[in-house]
Amino acid sequence: MTTTFNKCLMAGALPLAILLSSSAFAQESKGQGEVEVLNWWTSGGEAKALGALKDKLADDGIGWQNMPVAGGAGTNAMAVLRSRITSNNPPTAAQVLGYDAQDWADRDALSSLDDVAKAGNWDKVFPQPIQRFAKSGGHWIAAPFEIHSTNWVWANTSMMDELGIEQPNTWEEFIASMKKAQDAGHTGLAYGGQPWQDATVFENVVLATGGADFYRQAMIDLDPKALDSDTMIKSFDRFRELLQYKDDNSPGRDWNLATAMVIKGDALYQIMGDWAKGEFLNAGLTPEQDFMCFRTPGTQDAVTFNSDLMIMFKNDDDQQQSMQRTMAEIIGSPEFQITFSQLKGSVPARTDLSSDGLDACAKRGYEQAKTAAESNTLMGSMAHGYAAPAGVKNAVFDIVSSFVNGNMPSDVAAEQLAMAVQGARS
Ligand code: BGC
Repeated sequence: MTTTFNKCLMAGALPLAILLSSSAFAQESKGQGEVEVLNWWTSGGEAKALGALKDKLADDGIGWQNMPVAGGAGTNAMAVLRSRITSNNPPTAAQVLGYDAQDWADRDALSSLDDVAKAGNWDKVFPQPIQRFAKSGGHWIAAPFEIHSTNWVWANTSMMDELGIEQPNTWEEFIASMKKAQDAGHTGLAYGGQPWQDATVFENVVLATGGADFYRQAMIDLDPKALDSDTMIKSFDRFRELLQYKDDNSPGRDWNLATAMVIKGDALYQIMGDWAKGEFLNAGLTPEQDFMCFRTPGTQDAVTFNSDLMIMFKNDDDQQQSMQRTMAEIIGSPEFQITFSQLKGSVPARTDLSSDGLDACAKRGYEQAKTAAESNTLMGSMAHGYAAPAGVKNAVFDIVSSFVNGNMPSDVAAEQLAMAVQGARS
């Protein structure tokens, strides 16, 4: 194991606070018969969904040591994971997103899940866009929990009714409805000013403005001509227009607190991935009654997705290896895929399941993801590690957040975006 992990040492300074906290974590080693799972599922809905895995493992006599690292989209969690590995103390397993899974596989750090995948027929039941990230060199290296998608709007039904707002289908209607809420003294858009949230909203705007082909050229192919184009300038213009409807307390706000604004009736909408639905459900609310879900106007024909993957670290301990296999088996099983998504807000990553047990939003989401996969409009989310490797993603975060927090003109932002992406690639 030492050799494997020495190969994995990663360059790059980590923030001191993270290094300090990780040395504290390093003291806690996994107990006998227990798995240690690093994750960033710390909100109410997220923790409940994670609890379903803990319970399933307990049924198999496997103990649980949670290793939560707060911070949406896993940015902090990934820094802690790197330092755990640098200090030669990997957890049993970790929640990661697409390109990060590939990165750990390239570093030869991961256990193969081929046996479990073969027994569970994973090649047949998980769609290609997920396999592209959960396999490396033809081998399964991760167990997919679900499919999340980022192009959703979550809306407060009572406020819509009270203000006579119909579900908006176009960008113009969307903006007009937020203006109505604002004029009535509410916040139009519940917004969390953190780089990954800025980027999540921005990718919605890019897709709504340029359509699926443009999204792919700019965010996935990273074509400089698309990044610094009139369409990108228009996307930044629209993004600026949207930002007028956030409130003054948005800087630094966590995503689930923004969701709570919609839940409580302080804000009309939140643009966020469907993990936000997990918060509504955890608050006892019913989709399409107490709250509405609809695709961000202008993005109805496409789905920007991410999928949480569980990777298992190489290990010499037979018992740990066997528990890793059991955990992978559970995550990939039909029952767990449904149970987990019912709590998390996502849809199953497996495409062979009945949607009967899913709620109204997820039923639609599951069909939309399948249709999008067939029509090649199921596209990786930039903000959530499925469009480009971490270096490029972070470069995009920097420009988008500078735009949100300053007065950068749209044409300058587009130019800087193209330059930053190019710099991160070279
Ligand atoms: C993950 C979700 C998580 C969300 C907020 C996303 O990147 O895929 O599982 O709920 O971040 O933390």
